[in-house]
Amino acid sequence: MIEIKDLTVKYPGKNEATLVLDRLNITIATGDIYTFIGPSGCGKSTFLYVLAGILKDFSGTISIDGQDIDPKTQRIGLILQNYGLLPWKTVHQNIMLGIKIKKDPPELDEYKVYILNQLGIDDLLDRYPKELSGGQQQRVAIARAFLLNPDLLLMDEPFSALDAITREEMQELFLNIWKQNSVTTFFITHSVDEALYLGSKIVVFSPSPGRILEVLDNPCFKLDNLRFRDEYYAMSTKLRNLMGLSRDRVKDDKSAR
Ligand SMILES: Nc1ncnc2c1ncn2[C@@H]1O[C@H](COP(=O)(O)OP(=O)(O)OP(=O)(O)O)[C@@H](O)[C@H]1O
Ligand SMILES: [Mg+2]
Repeated sequence: MIEIKDLTVKYPGKNEATLVLDRLNITIATGDIYTFIGPSGCGKSTFLYVLAGILKDFSGTISIDGQDIDPKTQRIGLILQNYGLLPWKTVHQNIMLGIKIKKDPPELDEYKVYILNQLGIDDLLDRYPKELSGGQQQRVAIARAFLLNPDLLLMDEPFSALDAITREEMQELFLNIWKQNSVTTFFITHSVDEALYLGSKIVVFSPSPGRILEVLDNPCFKLDNLRFRDEYYAMSTKLRNLMGLSRDRVKDDKSAR
């Protein structure tokens, strides 16, 4: 269980600090996928930086099973919005980075072949990040996070740079991997459909400064033919109302299933 209490973040400014996250309170159940959705600039990435231990200047508390979150002790798989690959390392070196630090992933070789193959990056291992497209870089970042066999998976819009078909394949792959060991996952997205398809719970952020507007149980989780279900229509409308989106923006949603 992850408990977040009164999490507040301010970024320093020239004259005064800007409030970015405003007293977030939420308890995350172990083994669930939480999708986080909210408008651009509301602080979603900032929230993930804090959870990942990258941003330490915050107030409030975060604990995992009663202990402070610490990337040195917890195995945290992290996919950043800008992919977070090291430019001077090859694809293979980037993928193995976290694993070398954390050690002991189970049956790594077989699993590695499977993941690299499923992500379609097995031919790219000797390249450097600058020789890859955005979508390929994103898939390398996904491979690195999955191969770590993490206790906690933090994903910041991990499929945003992918075309619609690849994105759907990656969503399926993610759910398949997640089913194997139900890793607790924070999945940030700006897509209502993706939030509905992947999240067992959906957390809706307010516009900046980010606050949690609502935490919803998601009856659409893992439903096939999502778009044809009554549950989908009801939840989608509810989310859009919460986010102040009108129905006619549905067609702009690139991840529409
Ligand atoms: N290092 C920084 N210094 C000052 N302000 C920052 C910094 N990083 C982000 N911000 C500001 O904090 C706010 C939240 O940014 P953040 O990247 O967390 O938003 P987001 O919800 O992830 O947005 P998006 O959906 O566009 O990715 C924004 O207004 C942003 O301009
Ligand atoms: Mg962001």
